[in-house]
Amino acid sequence: MKISVCGKGGSGKSTVVALLANEARARGYHVLVVDSDESNTGLFRMLGFDHPPVPLMELVGGKKGLQQKMRQPNVLKETSIKTAQIPAEYLLRKDSLMLVSIGKILQSLEGCACPMGVLSREFLKKLDLEETELAIVDMEAGVEHFGRGVDTSIDSILIVIEPPLESVNVGQKIHDLASGIGIKNIWAIMNKVPSEEINTRLKAELEKRKIVVVGCIYYDADIFSSSLGGGIPAKGAAVREIKEVMNSIISKAGMPTLS
Ligand SMILES: Nc1ncnc2c1ncn2[C@@H]1O[C@H](COP(=O)(O)OP(=O)(O)OP(=O)(O)O)[C@@H](O)[C@H]1O
Ligand SMILES: [Mg+2]
Repeated sequence: MKISVCGKGGSGKSTVVALLANEARARGYHVLVVDSDESNTGLFRMLGFDHPPVPLMELVGGKKGLQQKMRQPNVLKETSIKTAQIPAEYLLRKDSLMLVSIGKILQSLEGCACPMGVLSREFLKKLDLEETELAIVDMEAGVEHFGRGVDTSIDSILIVIEPPLESVNVGQKIHDLASGIGIKNIWAIMNKVPSEEINTRLKAELEKRKIVVVGCIYYDADIFSSSLGGGIPAKGAAVREIKEVMNSIISKAGMPTLS
C-alpha cells in the first residue's frame, strides 16, 4: 500500500508520517518513507537518521537533467522499481525503516518544483512493493501536488487536519480532489486537538462533510518540545493514539496483519 500524508502547511504531516512509520514497523511492516516535500529538510532527523539520503533527483542528472527529461514519456528508465534495487546512498536503512527523498529546492531562482513533482509521480507509480512493505509519503503542503499528478500514483490518502477552519477547508479540498481522481482510500486524522470538546466538534464537522476520520492526536507538549531538537517523542500519548489510527487503517484497507 502507498499512503500519502497531505494537509495544510504546519498541520503535522511530517509528525504523523514519523509516528505512523514507527507504529507500522512495530507491527512488522517494512516501511519506506518517501520525502516528497521539496521545501523542508528535517524529516530524516524525525525518523532518527543522522543525515539525509542523496535525493533521487541526482540519479537522473540533478534538476537540470530532470528538466531536460521532463517531456519524455519516462524520466526513470526502469519499468518497475523494488526497494532492494535502490542504491544505498539514495535509500537509507535502519532495521525495517527506509527513507528516500525526491529532491529539495536549495537555491533562489533555481526554478519551480514541477520537475520534482514529475519524478515523485513516476517513482511512486513504478515503485513495486512487497506484501510486507508499506510506503508512506510525506507530501508537500497544500494541493499543488494534485496539479502535478503526484497523487495519481498512490492508493490511499491520509489528510492531517487541525482545528482551525482553514485547515478543515484545505482538508476538504484535498478530499474532493482525491475522490475526483478515484483514490480508493481517503481518510482524515485530526491533529493538535486541544480538548475532548474540540475533538467532538471537529469530528462532527468532518463527518458533516462526509470525510472519514481514522483517529485523533491530541495537542501534545512533548511533541512540540521534541521538535526543537528535530525529533519526535518515542513514547507518550501520541504514540498510543497513533495505534488506534493504525488499527483503523489496517481494518479499512484490509492490510495483512503481520505480528
Ligand atoms: N499533536 C501535536 N501536538 C503538539 N505539537 C504538534 C503536534 N503535531 C505537530 N506538532 C508540531 O507542529 C509543528 C509542525 O509539525 P510538522 O512539521 O509535522 O507539520 P507539517 O505539516 O509537516 O509542516 P510543513 O507543512 O511545514 O511540512 C511542529 O513544531 C510539530 O512539533
Ligand atoms: Mg513537513
